[in-house]
Amino acid sequence: MTKIGLIGLGTIGSGVVKILKENKTLITARTGTTIELKRVCDLDEKRAEMLGIRGIYSQNYKDLLNDPDISTIVEVIGGYEPARTIIIEAIRAKKNVVTANKAVIAKHGEEIFKAAEDNNVSIMFEAAVGGCIPIIKAIRESFAADKINRIYGILNGTTNYILTKMEEGLSYDQALKQAQELGFAEANPSFDVDGLDSAQKLKILSSLAFNAKIKDDILTWGITKINKSDIKYAKDLGYTIKLLAIAKEIDDEIELRVHPTMIPQTHELANIKNESNAIYLVGNNIDKAMLYGKGAGSMPTATVVVGDIIDIAKSSSITNYYSEEKKLKDINTITCRYYLRPNVLDKPGVFAMIADILGKNNISISGVSQKELGKDIVPITIITHNVRESDMMQAVDQINKLDVVKSKTVVIRIEDI
Ligand code: HSE
Repeated sequence: MTKIGLIGLGTIGSGVVKILKENKTLITARTGTTIELKRVCDLDEKRAEMLGIRGIYSQNYKDLLNDPDISTIVEVIGGYEPARTIIIEAIRAKKNVVTANKAVIAKHGEEIFKAAEDNNVSIMFEAAVGGCIPIIKAIRESFAADKINRIYGILNGTTNYILTKMEEGLSYDQALKQAQELGFAEANPSFDVDGLDSAQKLKILSSLAFNAKIKDDILTWGITKINKSDIKYAKDLGYTIKLLAIAKEIDDEIELRVHPTMIPQTHELANIKNESNAIYLVGNNIDKAMLYGKGAGSMPTATVVVGDIIDIAKSSSITNYYSEEKKLKDINTITCRYYLRPNVLDKPGVFAMIADILGKNNISISGVSQKELGKDIVPITIITHNVRESDMMQAVDQINKLDVVKSKTVVIRIEDI
């Protein structure tokens, strides 16, 4: 029997309580072990009452850490603090820890894994990335014998939902509102729409896949500048726009970026719709593998939290988390094709000015289009050949300074995966 303490009775915590109760027999039959919820903690006592577990409620997390019967603490409160303090204190109290907290693992992972190693306990965090998708297990265990060299992830359900709904005709604001109503958006939508949630998840995945210490300087662009016309132009060109988290290890250099990306409509990732998440891995031996599923939500996420608890109970968890210092690629040196959409005055010589700037910055145009809209200000869409990031950023800056350019140029990188 394994006795656990659960800290946090919100979306995921309440799911954990339900699963442990409803699937008790199933869990015992499948694993040969029993898991008992010994104590729970939350600031709000009413949550415990609503779940029918008032009898094991405590308002002070230290009660759980000081209980000698409890061998595993489950932290599902989220955020940096007090989550980090609780996890570190739990580890020092020689408790194993299961967490769903991507923020704390992305920011304080090194400290936490070191503490777990020093105290000979396990730290498990499957639910931190991709909701119910067992991507951490896939990288750390199933594919441990391979060298993974590329990761392409749709790691944020909210932005994928928004982009899907915009493809179906909703405006950005309407789609965001729906995502919030459905309950998978972060409390602060900026975390989702500005790409920060995806960047935290990418940091965790790339550290594991590349066995590397990753610093925080991940190029991170969100989806707020994308409008319906970009989605339509992309479609006409055979592409779909996704907020993609990209990690590559090439020649011992690691390249990390999160940004709206045009990917071929025929690619598997292009068909990941709504709030679903997917992670597409490329490895030397496995070639390509894609894992797909619900990236958020109470019961899907709680299921893998309980999976981690079971792993610990069966003593099949992994404590070690060795990471090497590796060189991070200077993002200015990456090359890719780009989609540009400046909104310009429709008058003679304007396109020539833009083409001149592109040419002077070593940028070769692969395709260009301007629809006849009968308006004074019109969008021009430009697709380039392979271009160096620093050249493109300089050119875009110069284009945006032209008097005839009336709003900031939309820039989308193209990834011919
Ligand atoms: N806000 C996240 C998302 C869910 O939309 O995917 C939790 O990671």
